[in-house]
Amino acid sequence: MDKLVITRPDDWHLHLRDDALLASVLPYTCARFSRAVVMPNLDPPITTVAQAAEYRQRILAARPAGSSFTPLMTLYLTDDTSAGEIRKAAAAEFVVGVKYYPAGATTLSAAGVTAIEKVYPALDAMQAADVPLLVHGEATDPTVDVFDRERAFIDQALAPLAQKFPQLRIVFEHITTADAVEFVLAARRGIAATITPQHILLNRNALFAQGLQPHHYCLPVLKRERHRRRVLEAATGGSERFFLGTDSAPHATADKQSACGCAGIFSAHAAIELYAEAFAEAGRLDRLEPFASHHGADFYRLPRNQENITLTKNPWTVSRTLKFGQHDLTPFRAGAEVAWRLEGNDD
Ligand code: NCD
Ligand code: ZN
Repeated sequence: MDKLVITRPDDWHLHLRDDALLASVLPYTCARFSRAVVMPNLDPPITTVAQAAEYRQRILAARPAGSSFTPLMTLYLTDDTSAGEIRKAAAAEFVVGVKYYPAGATTLSAAGVTAIEKVYPALDAMQAADVPLLVHGEATDPTVDVFDRERAFIDQALAPLAQKFPQLRIVFEHITTADAVEFVLAARRGIAATITPQHILLNRNALFAQGLQPHHYCLPVLKRERHRRRVLEAATGGSERFFLGTDSAPHATADKQSACGCAGIFSAHAAIELYAEAFAEAGRLDRLEPFASHHGADFYRLPRNQENITLTKNPWTVSRTLKFGQHDLTPFRAGAEVAWRLEGNDD
């Protein structure tokens, strides 16, 4: 199969940053996706509906001319998030969820939740108003091995949380392990997961291929080949519990190529094309459309998109650098080929 026509996809986990940085990266997402769930980890974080409304306006204003891209906003859960703010979020149509970062788990998570008990009132309100919880699922205890943090989080935090709030809808974001796949498949109703392109295309060897590769560093960190295969099987397996979320997370090249490099991989410039490669590897291109264009919309109870996009097997070479405000960034596959091409993309 060299040509694939699918319903225009949505990105259910995306970092857009703000201002000039936002203006640089947003066009790549608008060219491919109809909607995206926008992460709230700005500095300062988006913790209120009023802030989310303003951020949404900045995103709308930064769209390329003619784009009908729709940002779906999230709030950043903190120890102080009130039940009242959750009720406001439930009433605001443009807010689709609340993001739970365990404090210290990842980039700009310092304002995150320090102890889960502190957010029980907010979670109660979310359960009552049916507002989904979007979870960065990694244990933050520094004594837990970095490759085991997702598994530890499932046992210590996620499984008990899903039980304590049995009606709360939960998205386990950017899953990376076989453990996460098994948890989601066996979980009660209302639990789903997003999957990134890097976690189904790469294993942890990519971090150390001929030297340290900072542009392959993201959180959760890449895992062993066994986990990559199981996550790819989940993405391509047809279960409606798994859907596309790129976690495209731009950082300036200088911040990644540093003595203490930031976590985050930028994939928005080739996102759907990269998923097509992974699905082709699995021999399941026929399952790309439900994963990319149906399951997420169904979970969030939004209509599926109407228009189509066309992908062709026609390799192209990714630029070595892209503009990022006053800086530049190094995109996923920089200087190398991507096998699939989006029709109308002349990069
Ligand atoms: C994200 C970022 O840079 O904002 N980084 C990452 O490695 N994925 C934060 C996140 O989603 O963990
Ligand atoms: Zn993310």
